[in-house]
Amino acid sequence: MTRSIVPSMLIVAAAVIGLCSVAPAAAEGEMPQMGGGWEHIRDVNDPHIQELGRWAVSEHVKVANDGLRFVKVVSGREQAYYGVSYELVTEATNGAGKSAAYGAVVYELENKTRELMAFRPTN
Ligand SMILES: *[C@@H]1O[C@H](CO)[C@@H](O)[C@H](O)[C@H]1NC(C)=O
Repeated sequence: MTRSIVPSMLIVAAAVIGLCSVAPAAAEGEMPQMGGGWEHIRDVNDPHIQELGRWAVSEHVKVANDGLRFVKVVSGREQAYYGVSYELVTEATNGAGKSAAYGAVVYELENKTRELMAFRPTN
């Protein structure tokens, strides 16, 4: 009895691994990994996404004191991993009124605590 169970479990395990490698989207929720599972944000006008961009610019200004003003989030991607990480391409104007794009990385924990992980001009 036990002899026949072991090989059949190996076959099932191999099938699961095979499925994961051809369908990464299906594995995202169950096996989150850093660097994998990024999803394009389809509705960039979602108020929450725009609010995250506004918050990122204000956090950046607190530290850099460079007078940047938030305009809008233009695109981004997100990844769920003990909360959600966001990489947002955010348009902002500098003190001279010149507009430019900035990459903001915001990590929002499940309890809604936020951290600005990175903020820099995109080129
Ligand atoms: C939110 O969760 C993080 C990580 O577990 C913790 O460090 C932080 O204190 C929490 N913040 C609040 C407001 O509960």
